[in-house]
Amino acid sequence: MTQLKIGLFGFGCVGQGLYDILNQNEGFRAEVVSICVKDRTKPRKLDESYFTYDKNDILDNPEINLVVELINNADEAYEIVTTALRQRKIVVTANKKMLAEHLEELVALQEEYQTPLLYEASVCGSIPIIRNLEEYYDNELLHSVCGIINGSSNYILSKVFNEGLTYSTALRQAQDLGFAETDPTLDVGGFDALNKLCILIMHAYGLFVKPEEVFNYGIGSLSAHDFQFAREKGLKIKLLARVEKVNEDSITAFVIPQLVPREDYLFNVENEYNGVTVQAAFADKQFFMGKGAGGHPTGSAVLSDISASRYQYKYEYKKLARHRALHYTTDVRLEVYLRYHDETDLGLLQFEHIAEQYIGRSFHYVIGEVSLAHLLSIKQELASRDIFIASTGRKVEPVAEEVLAAAASEKAK
Ligand code: HSE
Repeated sequence: MTQLKIGLFGFGCVGQGLYDILNQNEGFRAEVVSICVKDRTKPRKLDESYFTYDKNDILDNPEINLVVELINNADEAYEIVTTALRQRKIVVTANKKMLAEHLEELVALQEEYQTPLLYEASVCGSIPIIRNLEEYYDNELLHSVCGIINGSSNYILSKVFNEGLTYSTALRQAQDLGFAETDPTLDVGGFDALNKLCILIMHAYGLFVKPEEVFNYGIGSLSAHDFQFAREKGLKIKLLARVEKVNEDSITAFVIPQLVPREDYLFNVENEYNGVTVQAAFADKQFFMGKGAGGHPTGSAVLSDISASRYQYKYEYKKLARHRALHYTTDVRLEVYLRYHDETDLGLLQFEHIAEQYIGRSFHYVIGEVSLAHLLSIKQELASRDIFIASTGRKVEPVAEEVLAAAASEKAK
């Protein structure tokens, strides 16, 4: 067993959480040698001698054999992580944005330098979902992986729906508690969940899918009308990320608020908790739940990776080799609820079928089927309109072959 000498980048919510955990864990032999931070003026709860402001003090220190990267900035994190791997230092990171944007290259780099990069803390905080997808489900045929994977947006939805807080008060609380990203648009816009979903797709299905290829829509434009609609039908609104098999050859994925019924396990996942349902061919349905944000829960996942690295644990990316034939598609139909006011907004979604429509004095809604590929193509436009979209959770249907053929010939004209 290797004696671990840790160089830590970042001493924010998660960095401090990890430090507390390491301190309270007497039997665990790992020493934090140095901590690299940016702000020289910030008061620190540790002696000044622990801190450095120069990343090379850690990266060039031969005594340090493990780098823990817990900073905010994804570009700087990328520089630190790639340099450390090239120096053959094991890396543990929680930076989901950096991972989602560079996963393919980072997998190759681990192979080239025979050095592990572990990142359990990047998805769902304390829930060991990556390790489970990688190890436990390594030979299972997975139908879908779906869940609440952003703690801040779930916290806001819980506080507004259950306790009647205003959206802005709930968001401020999520920020004060250290759950939210520095730019909270990443949380409420579904971008953080999108990055985490791209990481899950790799470990569930062995495919590299870039964040820009996946549809995401958040909770930023939720209104009292939407909560009223959900409440009257006995449903809750939850921001869900989903990847699922469409057929033998393809998978689809998206992040979208969903109207969740009481009998769904995710209905009772509240506040900063995350919940993930794995639907597998043989194990059937399994449900994971735990705190998805916060210093100690996320720090516990970092600790688990540090601990695993003492035994030379690395992700083997077994599904990457096995599932090369699978491809990612957005040629599926989703059933969605659209709350709108202006008729042009209804036109924007190009409903293929409308099952229900309501025209009220203060708001209108429709429930109907739309193409995921179309939603992806109008993603930015959607964010600028006074509308709200949520999936009804009805099964994702592949777009019929003839519709695809007609669209292709239309495009070719
Ligand atoms: N902002 C993230 C969340 C932190 O709320 O889930 C944990 O990844």
